[in-house]
Amino acid sequence: MRAYPHWSIRTANQSDRASITALLSSTQWKHQHLDWVNALDLLGEAPFLLALEHGLLAGCLACPPDPPTVAWLRLFAVAADYTPSHLWGQLWPEASVQAVSAGATQAATLLSGDWLAPLLLESGFEHTNDVIFLEWRGEAPPYVPLERGHVRLMRAEDFAFLAEVDRRSFNLIWQHSLDTLRKAFRLAAIATVVECDGQPVGYQVSTASIYGAHIARLAVAPEWQGHGMGKALVSDVLRRFSRQGMDRVSVNTQADNEQSLQIYRRLGFHQTGSRYPVYQIELVPH
Ligand SMILES: CC(C)(COP(=O)(O)OP(=O)(O)OC[C@H]1O[C@@H](n2cnc3c(N)ncnc32)[C@H](O)[C@@H]1OP(=O)(O)O)[C@@H](O)C(=O)NCCC(=O)NCCS
Repeated sequence: MRAYPHWSIRTANQSDRASITALLSSTQWKHQHLDWVNALDLLGEAPFLLALEHGLLAGCLACPPDPPTVAWLRLFAVAADYTPSHLWGQLWPEASVQAVSAGATQAATLLSGDWLAPLLLESGFEHTNDVIFLEWRGEAPPYVPLERGHVRLMRAEDFAFLAEVDRRSFNLIWQHSLDTLRKAFRLAAIATVVECDGQPVGYQVSTASIYGAHIARLAVAPEWQGHGMGKALVSDVLRRFSRQGMDRVSVNTQADNEQSLQIYRRLGFHQTGSRYPVYQIELVPH
């Protein structure tokens, strides 16, 4: 253990890009849950805090609220010769105060490793759910006809409708803002909607890389759920990927999300065994 006599905590700014990049590329203590951005895109948002010893970067933590009342822990990294518990103790109390000032009423974390879990629990977070991973490898499923509506490619003019679909279909912590939806669309390999009576009422956004494709987002407006639209969207995107020669598609969903699990199982997805716990804490009591 080392002593920590000369500490300062401050907000990260653009001039910290190089030191943050160096920290992220050199440390094993790194939690990142970035969705559609990279870590440096968070510069300028609050809270994004740095802890420095003698002016040298020892750790960083970013949890800017998005959606507006949820401070997801997007980034927490600790330089190699410091202990995570010390840096967490330095950064989280201030970050949680700043998150509340920025509008958050709760914080949430999706963990991919287990080193952070004890620190979260000590700070009052609770393990509320798990995200599980599924994978499809195989024959494209048959075309799934819809009684009403049809699947088509997403267009920019759909975003306002889809942000509303997203807000009404997902639980609060999983909602995407309009801005995030735009980022998702920009990075998508295939983004489609199901249109009914001239309006988009459901959508999916998928990405692709050399490792395979990934269905990153799927939602159907509550009043249209249970009519096969979710299944039609997933079946359609599998068929599109298959035509592009991609035969490996992953997806993740909450372990208790029976509707989505039923769709994935019916279309030939299998659980991979990977499971990421979700931790949450109320920052502002009801
Ligand atoms: C998941 C979601 C997209 C499904 O859309 P949908 O249009 O209602 O889905 P479908 O009608 O095509 O299929 C739903 C399936 O779930 C089944 N189902 C519905 N409720 C269920 C339950 N409580 N338990 C088990 N199965 C259930 C339906 O019977 C149907 O299966 P079937 O075709 O074998 O009968 C929609 O519920 C949604 O937007 N949820 C909120 C956002 C979300 O969770 N997205 C997925 C995250 S990856």
